[in-house]
Amino acid sequence: SHPILISPSILSADFARLGEEVRAIDAAGCDWVHVDVMDGHFVPNITIGPMVVKALRPHTAKPLDVHLMIAPVDRYLDAFADAGADILTVHPEAGPHIHRSVQHIKGLGKMAGVVLNPGTPAKMLDYLIDDIDLILIMSVNPGFGGQSFIDSQLRKIEACRKMIDKSGRDIRLQVDGGIDDRTAPMAIAAGADVLVAGTATFRGGPDAYADNIRRLRGG
Ligand code: DX5
Ligand code: ZN
Repeated sequence: SHPILISPSILSADFARLGEEVRAIDAAGCDWVHVDVMDGHFVPNITIGPMVVKALRPHTAKPLDVHLMIAPVDRYLDAFADAGADILTVHPEAGPHIHRSVQHIKGLGKMAGVVLNPGTPAKMLDYLIDDIDLILIMSVNPGFGGQSFIDSQLRKIEACRKMIDKSGRDIRLQVDGGIDDRTAPMAIAAGADVLVAGTATFRGGPDAYADNIRRLRGG
């Protein structure tokens, strides 16, 4: 199986110094950079769009892991790809047609991710598994950083791990929300191989990032 990757969510970074923050987590040893895009409609919060992704692109060579919490999503996929996203992850509920969104992302030559909210069953993936590169399990309801990990999602991680292994395809299993020193090992034990962490990466300020990332990785 894969090594554990850490994808810090810049939602918890200092937004007035985003470029520096991205350089700092890059230097601190992160694997990907997780960008939470929210529209105040699909989720009850508003963050950033393609212009900010484009502005951040020169600050790291690591993959930009863009989590799209916007509806409808298809009309913005090209803009995020052009801005420099490497991974585009979409919610089935954002609609209108998740399979079409996945095809669109693959057509852009990017990694295609599908994300399951806490109330969304793993079964949602039955007819997508042959096409996707990443499954993201939300372990909080999307919209905000700093929420508590929802334990029932561990069973979903286990179910998705089985689904991936059975498929024989190279699919990453990512978990997002409430990941910290206590829950990271639980998510890894359940089969996750990419951890998103906002609060737990950025707490303590830049001097703490490297240690925070190392602990999350379990090293
Ligand atoms: C929530 C976002 C997460 C969030 C995680 O909608 O998708 O990426 O930033 O924050 P923490 O790690 O603080 O739970
Ligand atoms: Zn996210």
